[in-house]
Amino acid sequence: DLARRRKGLRYTGIAPVAATVDALTVPSGFSWRPIIRWGDPILAGAPAFDATNQSAAAQAQQFGYNNDYTDIIVERGGRRGLLVCNHEYTNEGIMFPPTMDKTEAIETAWAAHGLSIVELTRRSRGGRWVYVQGGARNRRITLDTPFAVDGPAAGSPLLRTKADPTGRTVRGTMNNCSGGTTPWGTVVSGEENFNQYFVAGGTDAREKRYGLSATQDTRGWHTVDPRWDARTADFRNEPNRFGWIVEVDPEDPTSTPVKHTAMGRFKHEGANIIISRSGHAVAYMGDDERFDYVYKFVSKKRYDHSSSRRARRHNLHLLSEGDLFVAQFRGDGAADGVYDGTGEWIPLTKNGRSMVKGFSIEEVLVYTRLAADAAVGSNGQGPTKMDRPEDVQPSLATGKIYVACTNNTDRGKDGKPGPDEANPRNANKDGHVVEIIETSGDHTGTAFSWNLLLVCGDPKTAGTYFGGYQGPVAPISCPDNLAFDSAGDLWISTDGMPSTLKYNDGLFQVVLNGDERGKVTQFLAVPREAETCGPVIHDRDGSVFVAVQHPGEDGSWADQHSAFPDYTKVNAPGTFAGPRPTVVQVARGI
Ligand code: FEO
Ligand code: CA
Ligand code: CA
Ligand code: CA
Repeated sequence: DLARRRKGLRYTGIAPVAATVDALTVPSGFSWRPIIRWGDPILAGAPAFDATNQSAAAQAQQFGYNNDYTDIIVERGGRRGLLVCNHEYTNEGIMFPPTMDKTEAIETAWAAHGLSIVELTRRSRGGRWVYVQGGARNRRITLDTPFAVDGPAAGSPLLRTKADPTGRTVRGTMNNCSGGTTPWGTVVSGEENFNQYFVAGGTDAREKRYGLSATQDTRGWHTVDPRWDARTADFRNEPNRFGWIVEVDPEDPTSTPVKHTAMGRFKHEGANIIISRSGHAVAYMGDDERFDYVYKFVSKKRYDHSSSRRARRHNLHLLSEGDLFVAQFRGDGAADGVYDGTGEWIPLTKNGRSMVKGFSIEEVLVYTRLAADAAVGSNGQGPTKMDRPEDVQPSLATGKIYVACTNNTDRGKDGKPGPDEANPRNANKDGHVVEIIETSGDHTGTAFSWNLLLVCGDPKTAGTYFGGYQGPVAPISCPDNLAFDSAGDLWISTDGMPSTLKYNDGLFQVVLNGDERGKVTQFLAVPREAETCGPVIHDRDGSVFVAVQHPGEDGSWADQHSAFPDYTKVNAPGTFAGPRPTVVQVARGI
């Protein structure tokens, strides 16, 4: 019995969908509609999408590619809203005809990265959202948009290049993966796999720790702009200018977005913020790499709850100053039959000073991975090497924090670290979800307890665990993005199920409290070769939103693997019927 009964959102869970199916599958009685697709015109006067004739100039005014983090911010009255979305990366091989001019294709890819901010409208509460072309706050942020650098590493020699001798202004953002909407209404976004865009010497230990190499780059961007060639003295530091948490104010289309160095530099998945009892903004963050770490940032200043303009200006600087910590998880042993234990937040910075021997404050923030490698907790041990921590998100209802460890097939392999209680499986292909409880509910503190909520996979497989729930559950693998509904349940979107379970990726609801804790129900499945992103759960409105990322990603221009979302015609020579990454709304009767 996979039926889930909830206020506002009643549905019967779907069965898993085979990985060959090119369709978005939703529960019986629900329908889905695209809100906005790659290439849809956003700015006033933007040209209509034409896949056979794209250009950088057109793309810079249109919705970008590979929508990942998404929020739908509903405004007072409920009929207007704001959609904010990250565009993680491009896939030029399926986006552009092979005849497209190479330089134009690369510049178009730059314009398809970044973020989009788009106004929405609907006729009634619970109704269908449509986007407003030319909305007053509509904005595209691309790899050409100037960003201000703030925090202790701003202006550091480690951030200076020939094009920016001040080390305080960066052109653009990229590989923006997940993110979060802050209590003060801005959006933060993580710059994740930035290394893949650069050619680097790759012999420097610091470059290597971030995956920079001489062979990493497959896009050839350095042939169009020398800043992507980190082998040169002029742009040696360009990679250091990516890998940050960026903050964008969607209310002000003229605002300069910011890169916050106080929050450290790694392959940031995203950041999710809760206000501590003391009023500090606490951001939880994952470094999405095999054997990398979970972090938190505690703002120096306190959040101002008032709605004045002055309060807003104050809050816009909360992420500019604060202390950075990395997590150590200690298991209490297997004898109790559960994966659990205590943990410690090891400080990397305190009051603007380095807490790591041998590292200056600037070095801790720019080379955070190496600083964390060198950091030591009170037991003399370092932080815990996790199975690819993706979203790390506090429940605003309970204050408990959830960590999606998506997978790590290298655990236990040739000299690599073996299992520990927080990452209990060798060759972990299906991932797991950690629940963290801050001691005394204090988000600014250094002590916590933890347990594994889920050890994912096919429930028939030995070693899986579903919060102790014994009834039937949906198979789930590779948890990535997290969200909560108004009842406090956790929603998980996945990225990787086609290769692990031979099912399309999907969106799942997990009960956190009561007798059914750990019960997993599948809400939807995305089309062939897509990953489920977003998600946004407006259960009181009867709507769920997902960003369908990289549908048909293994195809080519001549052999497209998906016609999502329009399915109006088949892909034939000289035509393009999709795929187009798209943000969709799922509800009854839309
Ligand atoms: Fe871009 Fe960690 O997923
Ligand atoms: Ca235990
Ligand atoms: Ca992700
Ligand atoms: Ca992912």
